[in-house]
Amino acid sequence: MTFRIAPSILSANFAKLGEEVANVIASGADWIHFDVMDNHYVPNLTIGPLVCEAIRPCTTAPIDVHLMVKPVDRIVPDFAKAGANIITFHPEASEHIDRTLGLIRDSGCQAGLVFNPATPLNWMDHVMDKLDIVLVMSVNPGFGGQSFIPGALDKLREARAKIDAYTARTGRQILLEIDGGVKVDNIAEIARAGADTFVAGSAVFGAGKDSDPQRYNSVLANLRSALAGI
Ligand code: DX5
Ligand code: ZN
Repeated sequence: MTFRIAPSILSANFAKLGEEVANVIASGADWIHFDVMDNHYVPNLTIGPLVCEAIRPCTTAPIDVHLMVKPVDRIVPDFAKAGANIITFHPEASEHIDRTLGLIRDSGCQAGLVFNPATPLNWMDHVMDKLDIVLVMSVNPGFGGQSFIPGALDKLREARAKIDAYTARTGRQILLEIDGGVKVDNIAEIARAGADTFVAGSAVFGAGKDSDPQRYNSVLANLRSALAGI
């Protein structure tokens, strides 16, 4: 099993964002998770394609854009041009989910659906062929630093069963990502429930002293060693 750790820059120091991105990847992270909020679909406002473009030269690691915006389609090509590698969106925020997935893939990115705690997984059933990743939210979207909702574990197991059945039938892989409240002390349980890709915001960027360029090494090593026993 290959596990990916995707620190969410929502909890990074925005005054030093380029440095934060480079440091967290140098410390052993795999992806950069990029949370886009519009103060409409979710009650918070964050960053857009300009910031994605600005951090693109700071790393060769994949940029995983999590769109918490409504509508979705208008902004997709802008993120593709800004260097996004993966783009995920919430099915409730798109009028035509199949079309939006196609649009993301036609823009040259990997595509995924995001499931809020109360959103049923059957939104994925008729679009499996267009999914590269499924993202299960373990908090309600909008803010970093919230507590993990335990019901997400059953949802991960359900998503894992759907994905494994699909892979057995087609040979095609779909990643299963979790987002919200992931910490060193719960990541192993989350992995056992079926996740292979882990967003962690406050757990990673809250670690260590601001002046230490190696400050993310130990938290990332701890997350990895918790996963090593799986
Ligand atoms: C919440 C965001 C998350 C958030 C995770 O809407 O999608 O990516 O940054 O932060 P933590 O890991 O602190 O829960
Ligand atoms: Zn996110």
